[in-house]
Amino acid sequence: MTQPLRLGIAGLGTVGIGLIKIIQRHAAMLEARTGRPIAITAVSARDANKDRGVSLSSYAWETDPVSLAKRDDVDVFVELMGGHEGPAKNATEAALASGKDVVTANKALLAIHGQTLAEMAEDAGSVIRFEAAVAGGIPIIKSLTEGLAGNEITRVMGVMNGTCNYILTRMEATGQGYNALFDECAELGYLEADPNLDVGGIDAGHKLALLASIAFGTKPAFDDVKLQGIQNIALKDIAQAADMGYRIKLLGVAQRTAGGLEQRMTPCLVPASSPLGQLEGGTNMVVVEGDAIEQVVLRGPGAGEGPTASAVIGDICDIARGLRIATFGQPAKNLETASAAQASLPTAYYVRLTLLDKPGAMAKIAAALGEAGVSIDRMRQYSHEDNAAPVLIVTHKCVTSLMDQALSNLSQTNVLQSDPVVLRIEDL
Ligand code: NAP
Ligand code: HSE
Repeated sequence: MTQPLRLGIAGLGTVGIGLIKIIQRHAAMLEARTGRPIAITAVSARDANKDRGVSLSSYAWETDPVSLAKRDDVDVFVELMGGHEGPAKNATEAALASGKDVVTANKALLAIHGQTLAEMAEDAGSVIRFEAAVAGGIPIIKSLTEGLAGNEITRVMGVMNGTCNYILTRMEATGQGYNALFDECAELGYLEADPNLDVGGIDAGHKLALLASIAFGTKPAFDDVKLQGIQNIALKDIAQAADMGYRIKLLGVAQRTAGGLEQRMTPCLVPASSPLGQLEGGTNMVVVEGDAIEQVVLRGPGAGEGPTASAVIGDICDIARGLRIATFGQPAKNLETASAAQASLPTAYYVRLTLLDKPGAMAKIAAALGEAGVSIDRMRQYSHEDNAAPVLIVTHKCVTSLMDQALSNLSQTNVLQSDPVVLRIEDL
């Protein structure tokens, strides 16, 4: 009989239990598809007595994930604990040092330590697979490393944090503010243990750094991702963007520019009628552009037990079939160290200002922009609120340095009641 592929699973939370359910439910199907049984040998979590709603009695229990990772009867170490240091990192390193393959859903670990781990894996003849780490159930890693391998990728972008998209789309649908929807996400269990990972754009930034590495053949460089969260997006921004035909998304964009690799995860305006503009709730979307394919759009659930476990078992099936692809799609030692682009490609901007309602205020604003070389495309003034005049400007495309100069000029005008809100308008 063909030897089973033996798994050691560390982490029995949402994703770990989802994986065990799939393996228990579909054992025969998985064997038929991969040509060998997929067997769980041992598991690990913090609390051995917790009822997890599935039978674990036929698996050995390890209290220490590092011991699990080193077991002789484990071929693949499945890391589903999370965190970029501590047990996840230690156990992954131990597994690679013992010659095991690794499957993980941990974007933080790979965004920060991916290069070192990928080199360790290659030295040991092991593979690291991480489909579940980016956009949950969407097979984006597989698409980039396999189906689109013949393309020179020109741009990768997407909405990769379901919690942020849920908050932004619910703000528009319900008229509730950011704080109320943050609380709703907490009640629904959508938030990471550290919610700033979600709303601060960090979780999505980790994912973007991993995609950029595969797409552009560069070492993962999370520190180079320009990050801005959604905490300061006001209902006014949602409404005024809609008024101009846009929706606000926490959008990740990675592309090569003449000045280096641009990576940013920031709130942006996108046309309401575009696929990204129509994305609702916790769903994710990744758009890949390449020289042969032009554009591919992948949409699906970015989180949750079933979708994430689906991605993990997909990686396990590939290992069972003998597919061995380098972590970031090419040997780690060949990955280039990309210089980070200091400026983004030119873009149009949405600028929301709250002006003091006094003579000449509008003229000063127009002059501040004009003197910086920023040209106004559209401008609207909304009804006065007490002594404030809300003004919305959409600029023509300009480079970041001109907008920075315009903001500096604006701060000198003495007609602003509060800091401007400035968001990019993304070309799609
Ligand atoms: P979770 O529900 O919080 O589960 C974490 C599991 O890890 C728990 O079973 C916990 O044990 C165990 N654990 C934590 N520290 C441990 C330690 N020191 N030793 C042994 N076990 C330890 O997390 P999750 O949502 O399943 O996420 C797991 C990974 O998948 C993370 O990297 C996450 O970013 C990633 N991911 C999750 C989703 C999602 O939708 N949930 C989507 C994409 C990626 P106890 O149960 O005993 O406390
Ligand atoms: N916190 C993440 C999200 C979970 O909201 O998309 C999946 O990585």
